[in-house]
Amino acid sequence: MRLWKGRFSENTADVVVNFTQSLDMDWDLAEADIEGSKAHVRVLASAGLITEEEKMALLKGLDQVLSEIKNGTFKPLMELEDVHMNIEARLTEILGERGKKLHTGRSRNDQIATTLRIFLRRQLVGIGSKIRNLLESLLDSAERHIDFVVPGYTHLQRAQPISMGHYWMSHFWAFHRDFLRLMAALEALDECPLGSAALAGSTIPLNRHLSAELLKFSKPTENSIDSIANRDYLADFHHFASMFSIHCSRLAEDLIIYNTDEFGIVKLPDSFCTGSSIMPQKKNPDVLELIRGKAGQILAGYVDLLVVLKGLPLAYNRDLQEDKRSLMRSLRTLHGILDVLPQLISRIEIDLTAASRALEDGYILATDIAEFLVLKGVPFRSAHELVGKAVKWCLKEGKSFSALSMEEWRNLIPQFDENIFGCLNPKSSVERRKTYGGTAFSEVKRQVEKGKALLGEM
Ligand code: ARG
Repeated sequence: MRLWKGRFSENTADVVVNFTQSLDMDWDLAEADIEGSKAHVRVLASAGLITEEEKMALLKGLDQVLSEIKNGTFKPLMELEDVHMNIEARLTEILGERGKKLHTGRSRNDQIATTLRIFLRRQLVGIGSKIRNLLESLLDSAERHIDFVVPGYTHLQRAQPISMGHYWMSHFWAFHRDFLRLMAALEALDECPLGSAALAGSTIPLNRHLSAELLKFSKPTENSIDSIANRDYLADFHHFASMFSIHCSRLAEDLIIYNTDEFGIVKLPDSFCTGSSIMPQKKNPDVLELIRGKAGQILAGYVDLLVVLKGLPLAYNRDLQEDKRSLMRSLRTLHGILDVLPQLISRIEIDLTAASRALEDGYILATDIAEFLVLKGVPFRSAHELVGKAVKWCLKEGKSFSALSMEEWRNLIPQFDENIFGCLNPKSSVERRKTYGGTAFSEVKRQVEKGKALLGEM
């Protein structure tokens, strides 16, 4: 049954069949594999290695196998090891002797390298359009929440007031970088290894430029050994996936915290939360927690591939078969995250009452006061100290900044005046942070416009 059984005088042990098969992870590659095989058939025909009639029969046979796979009538056999052998065996069952010509000048080594690239390319395009949805949902939320003033945090302590639109845009830019990383991963796979055969190329005159063209790659790979050994493009995918999932996880963590009663700034929609089986009052942010948790699997997938590659001799070793396990798992996880996250973001509301409560005591404006003093000629370090002492005094007296009268301010800071007093509110603080990329409403609007333009180009 095994297509390579010629030199063996014993059947493969059952445990070995079980252990070496890759069907549990490569069956999803079937369509890409058939696409690669069809290009190979055309290259064989162009070299005169098969007749026109054989070419047509092989192409038709491969189409039939594909439709059998798609309609579920084709049940692959584990004894046939992998997706490649199963397809070829079925083709030969359909075509007889003619089917046996398909693998001319080809090895499963260049075959899997080609199939993987075709498969991953399609996946990346799909993921790219889902990232576009995510970016769109962030832009929408940024636009909706542009005028909403909330505390911005450093060290998880209230730091300075910001526009909630600015917060959403901070994630927009991170995910936009991920999109560029995805594009780089697409570029990295854009060379066709088909025709590299086992590792050394072929004595059969295969036109590798034609295979590249038929399979819509920019060019053939330069070196047949490297073609077989190279999995850099998978590492590039995992790098993209890892950075993306880290960004998702950080966003999820923020939202989990901001949603707690202790912070209370964001309100998650009921339909995206779950309840507790014992505590009736609970509304848990499980979707966000799972996004945070699943990031671990994706990072592990990256490490898994790198460890397989490290120290692996060139060109092909069966270790490489395992590259698909983490790839498939990470792709599934990415799709899962990308299907739920944009919808969740679009439904998040801001609790303005809780937000203004968090801004109420006025300490969050301490930097603003120091900067006002700087504009009046006070050196920044002295201004910092004056305001710091005012904070100390307030804490001792049990007063908040917002409760201080003009006279009390004057006693604490002689340079304090009506002008400063009038601007001491969170909205004005945000409005005046107009440095390029700052949180001023006008700057956030500029970012949103820029984001929309980038989305238009994607
Ligand atoms: N299933 C194998 C893989 O995914 C295909 C290549 C097998 N090549 C070999 N020389 N045994 O890597």
